[in-house]
Amino acid sequence: MDLRKWIFVILIVSVFEPQISIGGSEFSKQFLKLAKEDEVFDWMVGIRRRIHENPELGYEEFETSKLIRDELDKLGIDYKYPVAVTGVVGYIGSGEPPFVAIRADMDALQMQEMVEWKHKSKVAGKMHACGHDAHVTMLLGAAKILKSHSHLLKGTVVLVFQPAEEGGGGAIRVIDSGILKDVKAIFGLHVSPGLPLGQVSSKSGVLLAGSGFFEAVITGKGGHAAIPQHSIDPILAASNVVVSLQHLVSREADPLDSQVVTVAKFQGGGAFNVIPDSVTIGGTFRAFSKESFMHLKQRIEEVIIGQATVQRCNATVEFSSKDKPFFPAAINDEGLHKYFLEVARDVLGDSNVKSMLPLMGSEDFSVYQEVMPGYFYFLGMKSESNKKPVSVHSPFFEINEDILPFGAAMHASLVFNYLTEIQSSETHDEL
Ligand SMILES: *[C@@H]1O[C@H](CO)[C@@H](O)[C@H](O)[C@H]1NC(C)=O
Repeated sequence: MDLRKWIFVILIVSVFEPQISIGGSEFSKQFLKLAKEDEVFDWMVGIRRRIHENPELGYEEFETSKLIRDELDKLGIDYKYPVAVTGVVGYIGSGEPPFVAIRADMDALQMQEMVEWKHKSKVAGKMHACGHDAHVTMLLGAAKILKSHSHLLKGTVVLVFQPAEEGGGGAIRVIDSGILKDVKAIFGLHVSPGLPLGQVSSKSGVLLAGSGFFEAVITGKGGHAAIPQHSIDPILAASNVVVSLQHLVSREADPLDSQVVTVAKFQGGGAFNVIPDSVTIGGTFRAFSKESFMHLKQRIEEVIIGQATVQRCNATVEFSSKDKPFFPAAINDEGLHKYFLEVARDVLGDSNVKSMLPLMGSEDFSVYQEVMPGYFYFLGMKSESNKKPVSVHSPFFEINEDILPFGAAMHASLVFNYLTEIQSSETHDEL
């Protein structure tokens, strides 16, 4: 997940008022206790370390996928494979509707691990620096817990092990496969290094921004740096483009409708005395509403081309491609938010359920939320002793493995109670 530094800036706004729970709390507490027992905990730690040692990039998660399937086989859980190249979709319960899903992402990042420890990445230049190793493990943990209670499931839990979250749009391919078409709701989580261990944080409505990438080539005419009148300088033109792009958010967007335009790439020239032929710039843009997002996209293109023309240059602009698709904003369903609060309080206690402001980061979980009610939340892993935790996507990122039981129990409780409540609400004809 593209959260980086500001994952720390998650602002704890308020502690929610306690509420009466609708039931299922007995199981929720039991699930956390079970997940903390040595048998389950040690098994999860082993799995997480094996995945951590062998990180694989998006759509290349073949060994990770095999490990998941081997564990599902051992648990006696049916699954479909392959889904979206390397993905695995498992089923626990009656095999009948209603279906409710929990999802984990599987891919690692293209970066070198700098943490020296026994289970450091064995693959040079690849690392699980976003916690997806823990995400997969917690989903398997939930699978183990749910399997041992499968006779009590009032429907079917769908386990979604999704490839390629880090920009590859794995969720889009999972949805396109049609495998989730009967699913009523989906839940997902992300580890948070800045939030205390065993706390969750989220909000109703918009949680994470929609995100897109752009790349532009600004073409002039190269020549001798001391005879500028014979050249058309793309460096100056591109510099003006970068400055003009800053006005989209500062002058054209509603200050109360948060948006970002960042030029993060600027490449051109190679000598002190040569004006180059062209400059390539690239960056990302973020917005919470689809309307603002599409408007930004249009204006980015207009500004780049228009501003390049002012300096007699030509420009071509490309947006997110098949390898790097646009992600919509992650929007949490209001009904599921209320439901999440009840369950989280049962599992973790009232004081461990926090509220937060939206973040400009993005996450392809939003793709599921476009087609079904979905809920995404952050799960804390900051220990008392670690005052300065390292952010995700850092080469020094570390998972506090004590988080594993909390994630497993949260996943299991959310879907277990969901099926129970849907069932009882259908029989009592209310919701
Ligand atoms: C820009 O495009 C026009 C039309 O294709 C062309 O005539 C002109 O030479 C181009 N200018 C530069 C600086 O590449």
